[in-house]
Amino acid sequence: MKTSVYVNLQRKIIVITLLVSFAPLILLGVTIYHQLAIKYKQKIVEQIRYRAVAQAEAVDLFLKGRTAILSAMADTHKFDYMIEGNNLAHIFEVMNSRAGAFVDLGVIDSTGQHKAYVGPYNLKGLNYYNQPWFGEVMSKGVYISEVYMGYRKIPHFIIAVRRQESQQAWILRATIDPEIFGGIVRAAQVGKTGDAFIVNKERIFQTNPRFSGSIHSQSKLDTTLFGGSTTVIELRDGDGKKRLYAGTWLKNKKWLLVINQEAAEEMAGLFTTYMEVVIIVAGILAIVLTTIFTTRLTVRRLREADTKMRELNAALVQSDKMAALGKMAAGVAHEINNPLAVILQKTGWMEDLLAEEKFQESENIEEFKASIKKIEAHVERARKVVHNMLGYVRKMEPLLEDVDINETLSQTITLLENYAKTNNIEIAPDFADSLPIIASKQDQLQQVFLNLISNAIDAISTDGLIKVISERNDKYIIVKIIDNGPGIPEDQQGKVFDPFFTTKEIGRGTGLGLWISYDITEKLGGTIHLSSREGEGTIFTIQIPIVHPEKK
Ligand SMILES: Nc1ncnc2c1ncn2[C@@H]1O[C@H](COP(=O)(O)OP(=O)(O)O)[C@@H](O)[C@H]1O
Ligand SMILES: [Mg+2]
Repeated sequence: MKTSVYVNLQRKIIVITLLVSFAPLILLGVTIYHQLAIKYKQKIVEQIRYRAVAQAEAVDLFLKGRTAILSAMADTHKFDYMIEGNNLAHIFEVMNSRAGAFVDLGVIDSTGQHKAYVGPYNLKGLNYYNQPWFGEVMSKGVYISEVYMGYRKIPHFIIAVRRQESQQAWILRATIDPEIFGGIVRAAQVGKTGDAFIVNKERIFQTNPRFSGSIHSQSKLDTTLFGGSTTVIELRDGDGKKRLYAGTWLKNKKWLLVINQEAAEEMAGLFTTYMEVVIIVAGILAIVLTTIFTTRLTVRRLREADTKMRELNAALVQSDKMAALGKMAAGVAHEINNPLAVILQKTGWMEDLLAEEKFQESENIEEFKASIKKIEAHVERARKVVHNMLGYVRKMEPLLEDVDINETLSQTITLLENYAKTNNIEIAPDFADSLPIIASKQDQLQQVFLNLISNAIDAISTDGLIKVISERNDKYIIVKIIDNGPGIPEDQQGKVFDPFFTTKEIGRGTGLGLWISYDITEKLGGTIHLSSREGEGTIFTIQIPIVHPEKK
């Protein structure tokens, strides 16, 4: 089979295995991540909700404290005392030392007239009768305004309390420092993207937000989204990023304290350790590597098994072919043998006849004699072929003898050495020491070695080297005949063992040598194998089973 088939197979197995192993892993990972993310988000939502509630309480407490001290001052001092001399400044000082965050303090009579004032602005003498907050204080008694500009033209808010003193009512009013108030609100903001601010129902910022907008400007946040208790919602802001908003209405029901943060920043906590990533990457790597490794191993084994099977098949086909050819050859040889005997008998008789006197006179007598000799020679050649074939087909005697392979090889080499030398061919033996004596057929084996070595000599023709090697393994003695001749072309390698296959000129080769050798080795329980490369040479390998002779 072609290499690409195995490469394809390998690729398919790897891809399928990886898919099958990763699909559930990825699914599981995504599911776990999802559930974890949901849990984590719930936690985050709870946290931000808690922060909003706590901060709203802090702000409420702040306002309550400021209102309480203002009320206490109004309750414990009379109007006339307040507006006299430095008294108000003194009270202002006491208030700030107790609670802080007051910017100024003023006393206003029932007509709205600003009677006394302590603070950085020049507001004394102004009339507040028409200011919206004035009516509110007069009717409700205590009033905390929203942020407004007022006479000073700076965003601020005030706390005012009304005091009833026999006939007349008056108002003590203080401004809260927007910076300090904003600072208290902003204390709830966390992280790089966190923000905390207060808006009123009309979306006007009551404190400075951290991003986009400022105090007294309008916010884009839809305050109707936030219900009675603390509400947490997720919204997309201007640049498309998700933000978590937690909003709590303060006790006055007019102000919404908002804490928000980018959702991504919150979720960043989910992946804090590099360890998880390292483990995942290492796991993926391990799976991929082992898959590739085991698949390669499997495909290689498969390939080896395939090759072995192909070789076995080829050997089986070859031996089938040889058996069929052997039978046919034996039949043909037998059929030819009888006519040959008759021809030879007749030529003998013809020779006898020619010896008679009356034929001596014939002018063609010499030609007759020559023709008869030629017929005899050719018949002799045909008989030799037939003899060869019949000889090898003949049932081999079951009797085995003790054979020393090295000895047999040496004898064969001696037979051919002179012939090889005249063609400048060296025969180099390289024998394994102490090969076992085996039970086999010496003359048959010699025939095989003779065929192979003479083939090698023929192939080299002149100048070359033939190595004759013997070695052994557990089961076989192995003989290798290696020549550096022209080699056998690939398309002929399947045919050289066929009977009558020869590339030699007529009269020189019969094409029976390898056929006979194949049959002999097979009958002895061995194998003969060819490996050749054109232009480099040929190796014939014979394996002869090690059969130990019976002890005599
Ligand atoms: N060592 C070899 N190198 C090259 N070709 C060889 C070798 N041995 C055998 N052959 C080829 O195999 C053919 C068959 O060999 P064989 O059966 O011995 O018949 P023959 O020797 O009579 O041709 C040879 O004709 C030759 O082409
Ligand atoms: Mg030959």
